[in-house]
Amino acid sequence: MPTDGRRILVTGATGQIGSELVPELQRRYGGENVVIGIHSRPPRGDLDSGPIEKIDVTKKDKVEGVVKEYGIDTIYHMAAILSVAGEANPWLAWDVNVNGTYNVLEVARENGLDRVFVPSSIAAFGPETPRESTPQDTVLKPRTMYGLTKVSGELLSNYYFEKFGLDVRGVRYPGIISYKTPPGGGTTDYAVEIFHEAIKKGKYTCFLREDSTLPMMYMPDCIKCTLDLMDADVSRLRHHGDYNVAAISFSPAELAEVIKRHIPDFVISYEPDHRQAIADSWPKTIDDSSARSDWGWEPEFDLASMTEDMLKNLREILSED
Ligand code: SER
Repeated sequence: MPTDGRRILVTGATGQIGSELVPELQRRYGGENVVIGIHSRPPRGDLDSGPIEKIDVTKKDKVEGVVKEYGIDTIYHMAAILSVAGEANPWLAWDVNVNGTYNVLEVARENGLDRVFVPSSIAAFGPETPRESTPQDTVLKPRTMYGLTKVSGELLSNYYFEKFGLDVRGVRYPGIISYKTPPGGGTTDYAVEIFHEAIKKGKYTCFLREDSTLPMMYMPDCIKCTLDLMDADVSRLRHHGDYNVAAISFSPAELAEVIKRHIPDFVISYEPDHRQAIADSWPKTIDDSSARSDWGWEPEFDLASMTEDMLKNLREILSED
């Protein structure tokens, strides 16, 4: 198999996105060329092939040791503490998200790596940001620790590109919806939980208000946008660590309506909690025209096709459990 010479490390490889990014990287570049960087969550299923290394990204020497041992040239730095978990432990969120990212970038700089992916999030925005069609370049004054760390990561990524010529790339992920691995500690997690509860119990109590519209994306589009950006010709990129990407925006009520087309008796109720304030500080819709024009970003799944695919695949998985 042509490997394009890539030797890849994925941190946070057993998280929601890493769990699906790793198999695709293994398919493209060969399993032996993708080092699975894990922390607390053990690998499962199709992640059990290929080299596995326990990496705490707050320990620079461990990151560096793995990079040197395997001759890594590309890092997908997916390890992070998300918004809700970050409010429960802001100190840990800062340490993992900022110091961890700094360590990864420093190791990449010192060892002359070819390319690094550092994801950001819609959490980089805040209450002063325009909430409709949020522009690429706009106010970044988040109120969550997670958001603060993501803005820091964007700025660090851009700094390393400008100052050191390190090819760092990143997108502002919306809420990611997937069926293989549960998300953890996020405000947008309701949009995954709802499918589990709809199939198992036919009802769901949502922790956000019915009209809380947020930007979301189905996992196949998330993997596509990550890899498309990493494959893009650097000369076409007018941004680096902070591309807006959009796919679907919907409210809990709108998602429930589409689920009801498949499960007519499905009932949703609403008990907004502390997570509502986080959702209220984030955009409803995103202007991703820069990503579209610079590297051809285009999502495939809309609300209807995502819902149909989620229900089909999750039903299969839950019936095997
Ligand atoms: N899904 C994330 C969260 O809710 C947003 O990036 O924290």
